[in-house]
Amino acid sequence: MSKLSLNLQKQALKEMSQRKPYSKKLAGFEYLVLPKVYKGSTDTELFTEVIKIKPDYDVWDIGTGTGLIALSFKKNGARYVLATDLNPDAVKNAKVNSKLLKLDIDVRRLNLFGTVKNKFDVITFNPPFTNALPKASHDISFWDKDHKTVKSFLKDIQRYLKPSGKAFIAWSSFADTRKLKVIAKKYNIKLKQVGKRKGKRGFVYYVFELVFKL
Ligand SMILES: C[S@@+](CC[C@H](N)C(=O)[O-])C[C@H]1O[C@@H](n2cnc3c(N)ncnc32)[C@H](O)[C@@H]1O
Repeated sequence: MSKLSLNLQKQALKEMSQRKPYSKKLAGFEYLVLPKVYKGSTDTELFTEVIKIKPDYDVWDIGTGTGLIALSFKKNGARYVLATDLNPDAVKNAKVNSKLLKLDIDVRRLNLFGTVKNKFDVITFNPPFTNALPKASHDISFWDKDHKTVKSFLKDIQRYLKPSGKAFIAWSSFADTRKLKVIAKKYNIKLKQVGKRKGKRGFVYYVFELVFKL
């Protein structure tokens, strides 16, 4: 993690807390971005393009932010879409966008898996990439001390998938993809790259499918 990317994240978090709600276009949507919510960017868009949805799919987008990934799944025909986030402002934002775009998704405030009992065909998580201590509620957009949230996600994810279900996680070159692979290996998971795109300032974003080893 370079000092440059940490400073850029600090600037972005400051902008998030000071901004007024505004409208943004991305991934074929025009949606609302509220204060203290990750606005959505290359990583978000990549998810909306890479994951293929079938009409009978039950899908869960964890850490939904503005709800954009979840809303794209609904638009692409998923039967049921659960969209969750720990940040209350993100939950509010995803609910607002669900109404605005007339796409019916189930938005809830949950810490990672919370009390969910259902099993899903697809689960996605565009997580905080950086090992830093969050202080404000929206710092968890980027920061996850010792990658605790990512570790919990990889440890328990299989429990929430149907037998043929698939899970996907995003990562970025500024956060060191080798690190994520080391964490995944600990939980007997291999990461299969299914999406890759260069974003602003030359950082590369990835979407990985989780391949569970026996
Ligand atoms: C990089 S942002 C991605 C937001 C959105 N999915 C997108 O792609 O635009 C990470 C999101 O994960 C959420 N998050 C972080 N830790 C979480 C946790 N323990 N449980 C649920 N959501 C969490 C943050 O609040 C934030 O909205």
